[in-house]
Amino acid sequence: MDNFDQQKLRLLAQSVVESAMDAIVVVDATQRIVLYNKAAEQVFLHPRAAVIGQALDVLIPERFRKAHGAHVAQFGRTGTTSRRMDGRMVLHGLRANGEEFPVEASISHSGNGPEELYTVILRDVTERVRADDSLARSEARLRGILDSAMDAIITVDGAQHIVLFNTAAEAAFGYTQEEALGAPLSMLLPYRFRAAHDQHVHRFGEAGVTTRRMGTFRVLTGLRHNGEEFPIEASISQIDENGHKFFTVILRDVTERVRADEALRHSKEELRELAALAQSVREQEKSRIARELHDELGQSLTALKMDVIALRSEVPAERTAMTERIARIEATLNQTVAATRRISADLRPLMLDDLGLAAAVEWVVQEFTDRSEAACKVTIEGALDLEDPHATAVFRVLQESLTNIAKHAGASAVDVCIARSPEKVYLRVQDNGMGFSLESPRKRNSHGLLGVRERAYLLGGESRIVSAPGEGTVVELWLPLPVA
Ligand SMILES: Nc1ncnc2c1ncn2[C@@H]1O[C@H](COP(=O)(O)OP(=O)(O)OP(=O)(O)O)[C@@H](O)[C@H]1O
Ligand SMILES: [Mg+2]
Repeated sequence: MDNFDQQKLRLLAQSVVESAMDAIVVVDATQRIVLYNKAAEQVFLHPRAAVIGQALDVLIPERFRKAHGAHVAQFGRTGTTSRRMDGRMVLHGLRANGEEFPVEASISHSGNGPEELYTVILRDVTERVRADDSLARSEARLRGILDSAMDAIITVDGAQHIVLFNTAAEAAFGYTQEEALGAPLSMLLPYRFRAAHDQHVHRFGEAGVTTRRMGTFRVLTGLRHNGEEFPIEASISQIDENGHKFFTVILRDVTERVRADEALRHSKEELRELAALAQSVREQEKSRIARELHDELGQSLTALKMDVIALRSEVPAERTAMTERIARIEATLNQTVAATRRISADLRPLMLDDLGLAAAVEWVVQEFTDRSEAACKVTIEGALDLEDPHATAVFRVLQESLTNIAKHAGASAVDVCIARSPEKVYLRVQDNGMGFSLESPRKRNSHGLLGVRERAYLLGGESRIVSAPGEGTVVELWLPLPVA
């Protein structure tokens, strides 16, 4: 190569170095700066003239100088010709104004002995580090939110491996985050549910819905680290990140709630049993008193009456004062007999036990029409030869409905329908009275309609009350009958 070409090459190299975007600093074997390009001026803020011939240390923060010297020396010894300086760590540079800044650098080595040169190409990465920092901060913030959530939050990737596991998840499942990350989600499920669960998530992934509650109508089951199973309520959502699916499950340990529900259900059941028992005892008691009133008291009164009639016939006609007194006794006796009958029947019509439901229905409707202005139409389909407790239930609901109509409805027409089939008995009592609002709270001493519902429930049936102000009232009852 002649002199001219060499010069041309040097100029070319110089212009490349000058126009490079990255700072280029060349030092000799003694670490004195021999080359320093324009980009280096911009980064370090030292003008070229101030650094050429100076030790490289002028560009390095004080506290790193020693380590850096050792670093370069070691690099010199290993003899590799080009490598990135400290691939993982961001290094630090020092500007003329004393400001430190992060740099990313690569170093290469050429020549030998006194000819030895080290070329450092470096870049000011202040902006990138700042961006990384703010990303790290926002990740930390997100992490903080996730960890302060009361609900367990677990994210799995497409292969169902856990990629996120918050503090609440740690508490619920008894795994630390370190143990959970990377582990299969199935680890958190009782063995018997794993296969079904896989399918579930898979289907969900394919359906492409983005959020939904899992097992909407039932509580799912989780498995703790210690082998304990516990009820959970969960919702799942999925996102697609660059073609990779992630599923996030938000779940809550509902052990306490399920336990409370269970206790409540149990206590309700016990209360119902107690109510049923109380009802049947009351019914028996009423029946006993009604019968005693009717049989014992009624018979005695009748005997008394016969004696009084006999007495009257024996009193001479001229004893008018006595005849009048006997007539008064007789009238009082008649009233007492009637009252006894009424009280007895009100307690429980004996015909319900003696003659059956049909007779009792006829009697209670008669009682109602005697006391009320309303016209009452009765339709009966099928034979009303019901056994107790069904006969009593139908009778009592009809009685309560008619009493309510007489007390509250001011109706002009009442329609009673009883239909009996082999499987069930149905009762409907409809009036055209003033009706009432079903929304208003139950009055303190109103137990009639409550009793209607209770009777239906206790016999495995249903009741329905439909009413609105000005629109009359319908009370319906369905009772399944025991198969004969
Ligand atoms: N057929 C009806 N027409 C209009 N209002 C009615 C009718 N049936 C019930 N109600 C209203 O509903 C309320 C509740 O009825 P419920 O039978 O439960 O209690 P009650 O009749 O007031 O008292 P109890 O039946 O305990 O002696 C009544 O107070 C009344 O306001
Ligand atoms: Mg009532």
